[in-house]
Amino acid sequence: MAALTNSHAVVIIGLLLSCFILFVSAADDNSTAALTVGFYKNSCPFAEIIVRKYVNKFVTFNPGFAAGLIRLHFHDCFVRGCDASVLLDGKNSEKQSIPNKGSLRGFEIIDAAKAELEVKCPGIVSCADILAFSARDSAWKAGNIFYEVPAGRRDGNVSNTLDPLLNLPPPFFNATQLRDNFARKGLTLDEMVTLSGAHSIGIAHCTSFLGRLYPTVDPTLDPKYAAKLKKICPAPVANATGPPKVNPTVNQDTITPIRLDNLYYLGLKQKKGLFTSDQDLMTSPLTSNIVLNNIQFGGVWATKFAAAMVKMGNIDVLTGVQGEVREHCRHIN
Ligand code: HEM
Ligand SMILES: *[C@@H]1O[C@H](CO)[C@@H](O)[C@H](O)[C@H]1NC(C)=O
Ligand SMILES: *[C@@H]1O[C@H](CO)[C@@H](O)[C@H](O)[C@H]1NC(C)=O
Ligand SMILES: *[C@@H]1O[C@H](CO)[C@@H](O)[C@H](O)[C@H]1NC(C)=O
Ligand SMILES: *[C@@H]1O[C@H](CO)[C@@H](O)[C@H](O)[C@H]1NC(C)=O
Repeated sequence: MAALTNSHAVVIIGLLLSCFILFVSAADDNSTAALTVGFYKNSCPFAEIIVRKYVNKFVTFNPGFAAGLIRLHFHDCFVRGCDASVLLDGKNSEKQSIPNKGSLRGFEIIDAAKAELEVKCPGIVSCADILAFSARDSAWKAGNIFYEVPAGRRDGNVSNTLDPLLNLPPPFFNATQLRDNFARKGLTLDEMVTLSGAHSIGIAHCTSFLGRLYPTVDPTLDPKYAAKLKKICPAPVANATGPPKVNPTVNQDTITPIRLDNLYYLGLKQKKGLFTSDQDLMTSPLTSNIVLNNIQFGGVWATKFAAAMVKMGNIDVLTGVQGEVREHCRHIN
């Protein structure tokens, strides 16, 4: 009788144990596994320092790279989550899509950091995390905005040319459309306006806002500024096929073009937002108060920007044993 009870107990304990093991292993490769600050502190202690070294070097050489790296992280996170899919080369890759082709920049910085990381700690630091670190270091360099980056992202294997068009907001969106687009990624209206402040740095090609200049000037654009832009950007050719031969660029922020600050929002008040997606944040009653607050309270905006960057960096991440750590950011292993 006692023996029977004992064997029952063994079976029950065994069942409990295997349930526990199943539970633990399920939790291990679960997509809900959280990213953590200092993820590489034991496996690759100098990971973040190495990334920062390259960001500092390149951004000092050309401040535009700070804009490039912040935008790369955005275009990564909104398309298949922050999985470095934007970095993959290939004929049908995200790089070839209209929002990305010819305008993304900073790939060489990621490559340089990755090359050193693969020497120091091979197979440890994901390309998606390198992107997140680089964006953070760029925000610090361009705007003295600091935040810790929770890490532990893994790299995805899939990159499709169609995906950016289906997920990234185009520059002709109005505030309502932008709200809905960001909501699909779990970001609030306030976070959408806050993150648009990234347009406080960097450049835009004429083709991104030509529709506001020709055939008629958008009435929400300052006429003097529009006249200036028209001198830089030639009118589109009526029956042109393919991309235009010349596609100049202009600074997005007319006040402090290489400083990541809240003066972007002052530019909107002056009707100098380059895209409809910028200017409508001021025009629309949905968001105009947020813009006015960001003009008045720059410190609050900077704090919100840091928090929103962290939140954006969490979108649909792969963790645990999902995906892989790429050896080279342009190719899957
Ligand atoms: C709100 C919706 C957004 C739209 C419609 C939008 C659209 C665009 C477009 C069309 C360009 C210019 C591309 C070119 O012509 O070269 C651009 C540039 C840029 N965007 Fe956005 N964007 C949005 C949000 C964001 C967010 C959330 C971030 C980052 C947090 C961001 C960061 C940047 C940066 C830094 C640049 C300048 C890039 C450079 O100089 O290389 N944008 N954006
Ligand atoms: C992740 O966790 C959810 C519940 O939190 C569960 O339904 C799902 O099966 C888990 N996925 C994996 C891959 O373990
Ligand atoms: C925003 O654009 C959508 C789609 O074109 C349109 O239906 C909507 O009326 C616009 N909203 C505003 C406030 O203009
Ligand atoms: C299209 O452009 C070419 C010059 O590139 C011109 O010769 C031709 O007449 C134009 N066709 C039309 C229909 O405007
Ligand atoms: C990516 O490919 C590797 C092997 O090439 C595989 O181990 C991994 O599970 C794949 N990840 C995804 C997300 O498909």
